[in-house]
Amino acid sequence: MKNTELPCIARLRNGKSATLALAEASDGALLLEFYRSMSEEDRLVLKDDVTTAEWLDRFLAALHRGEALSVVGKLDGEIRGEATLYRTLHGWARHVGEIRLNVDRSARGQGLGLELARHIVKLAIDRGIDKLVAHMVDSQIAAKRTFEKLGFHKEAELPGHVKDILGKKYDLLVYANDVSYIWSAMESMLGDFRPDRATR
Ligand SMILES: CC(C)(COP(=O)(O)OP(=O)(O)OC[C@H]1O[C@@H](n2cnc3c(N)ncnc32)[C@H](O)[C@@H]1OP(=O)(O)O)[C@@H](O)C(=O)NCCC(=O)NCCS
Repeated sequence: MKNTELPCIARLRNGKSATLALAEASDGALLLEFYRSMSEEDRLVLKDDVTTAEWLDRFLAALHRGEALSVVGKLDGEIRGEATLYRTLHGWARHVGEIRLNVDRSARGQGLGLELARHIVKLAIDRGIDKLVAHMVDSQIAAKRTFEKLGFHKEAELPGHVKDILGKKYDLLVYANDVSYIWSAMESMLGDFRPDRATR
C-alpha cells in the first residue's frame, strides 16, 4: 500500500496551489483562527464547538496520544481546509476511524476537500484502520458527494440524533466503507481526476 506523501502541493481548479501537511501542535493558533472564522451556518451541525480554547486543548491532546490525525490545507499560509481522522486505540472499535472534513467557503469547489479526504483516507490505511465512517446530515450534499467519490455509502440513518447549536434536530447519516473498497475507488478516481484540468 502506498504511503501518503506529506507535505505536498495540491493544484486546485482555479490554478492556486494549496500546501497539504500533517497538523502539528504549532498549527493550533491557525486552526482556531480557521474554525473561528466559520459562519454560524457552517458550524451548525459540527460535532464539537471548535471555536473554544478547550476544544483546541482536547484536539492537540488527541493528536499527541495518536487518537487523532489531522491534515491541514493552507493557502497563502492560512488554513483553508482540515481533515481529521479520529480513532480509539482500545476496545472493540479500534479498527474503526471517523473522518471529519471542513473547507472554508472561500476555497470550496476547487478540489481541496477531496484532496484532504483522499490523504486522510491514505493515512488511515497506513495505520491499519479497516473501516472508515463519516457523519453528516441530509443537507450536506457536497459532503455526501465527496465521500461517495471515495467509495463510501450510506450505512445507517439515526432519526433525530443530531441537535444543532440552535437546538433543531436532524437525522444523522452514517456513511461508511471498508478500506479495501475505498482504495480501489481512489485508484480508479485518480486515473481521471486532475483538479487543475477539470472543468465545472
Ligand atoms: C464537504 C466539503 C469539505 C467539500 O469541500 P470542497 O473543497 O468544496 O470539495 P471539492 O471541491 O473537492 O468537491 C468534491 C466533490 O463534492 C461535490 N460538490 C462540491 N460542492 C458541491 C455543491 N455545492 N453541491 C453539490 N456537490 C458539490 C462535487 O461534486 C465534487 O465532486 P466533483 O469533483 O466530481 O465535481 C465542504 O463542502 C464543506 O466543508 N462542507 C461543510 C462541512 C461538511 O459537510 N463536512 C463533511 C461532514 S464530515
